[in-house]
Amino acid sequence: MSPKAARAIFYLGTLISLILFLALTVDTHRQVQTLTHADQLSDQVVSGKRVWQKYNCNDCHTILGFGAYYAPDMTKVYWRRGAEGIRAMVKNPELYTTWRKMPNQHVSDKEIDDLIAFFKWTSEIDNNNWPPQDAKLRATERKVVALGVSSGAVLFQEKGCFGCHKLFGTGVTVGPELTHVGGRLDHNTIEKILDNPRSVNPKATMPQIPLSHEQRDQLADFLTGLK
Ligand code: HEC
Ligand code: HEC
Repeated sequence: MSPKAARAIFYLGTLISLILFLALTVDTHRQVQTLTHADQLSDQVVSGKRVWQKYNCNDCHTILGFGAYYAPDMTKVYWRRGAEGIRAMVKNPELYTTWRKMPNQHVSDKEIDDLIAFFKWTSEIDNNNWPPQDAKLRATERKVVALGVSSGAVLFQEKGCFGCHKLFGTGVTVGPELTHVGGRLDHNTIEKILDNPRSVNPKATMPQIPLSHEQRDQLADFLTGLK
């Protein structure tokens, strides 16, 4: 190949890549409002973002691509943990962390509410499944739903039980694995634990998760079926 042809290929290639890059950038910017649900950016979501900055959570965590890699990415944390799972972790990290540690920064209850609103909002951003941090959890969701006991299984995901319990190899083992819990505990005991963990075990560290009587019943139905 002559040097002239090589140069022509180089310039043409660069030009085409540049045009493609610019076109994709413009296209993304046109979609940002829709993908991020900008209309749902309430005052509370904005306050939550300020709390995130005030305590420098970014020093350890990443969110939407910004931050450090010591601790889990928080973009979809609301899906993983649910409101009460997040509250428990931020209020008493010393009880719920596993091998990596998170400091207790004494974040106030109101600030935690705001943070939860912020995480709920970021979890709903359509980031084209990138980073694919929750792919594994979604595979389990399919497994759980395939059990055919949907209301309790869905609650198990929505209420963030995976944040502390393992089921079918997915989740975290801050609390016991629940894959065969139906073989150990009966319906009544599970309902009692869900109502107030300390009523069954005075030393329990599981947080009291606000659930209606019906939700406790559905979760206990689901869990007693796991033998
Ligand atoms: C010094 C580092 C550090 C700082 C600062 C920090 N965290 Fe963490 N955080 C961690 C680590 C490490 C974990 C994971 C613990 C584990 O794996 O058991 C974690 C886990 C979490 C989780 C659970 C995530 C999940 O998916 O399991 C939440 C929620 C959380 N942090 C919120 C916060 C918030 C909100 C702030 C700011 C107020 C904050 N963290 C500040 C280190 C930190
Ligand atoms: C923040 C962590 C955390 C969250 C969130 C959590 N748990 Fe737990 N859970 C624990 C811990 C820790 C234990 C072990 C006993 C104790 O110390 O409370 C436990 C124990 C249990 C037990 C008794 C298991 C046994 O073998 O004795 C059941 C059942 C249970 N949890 C169900 C749930 C369900 C259902 C949810 C979601 C609604 C949930 N947990 C959310 C931490 C958690």
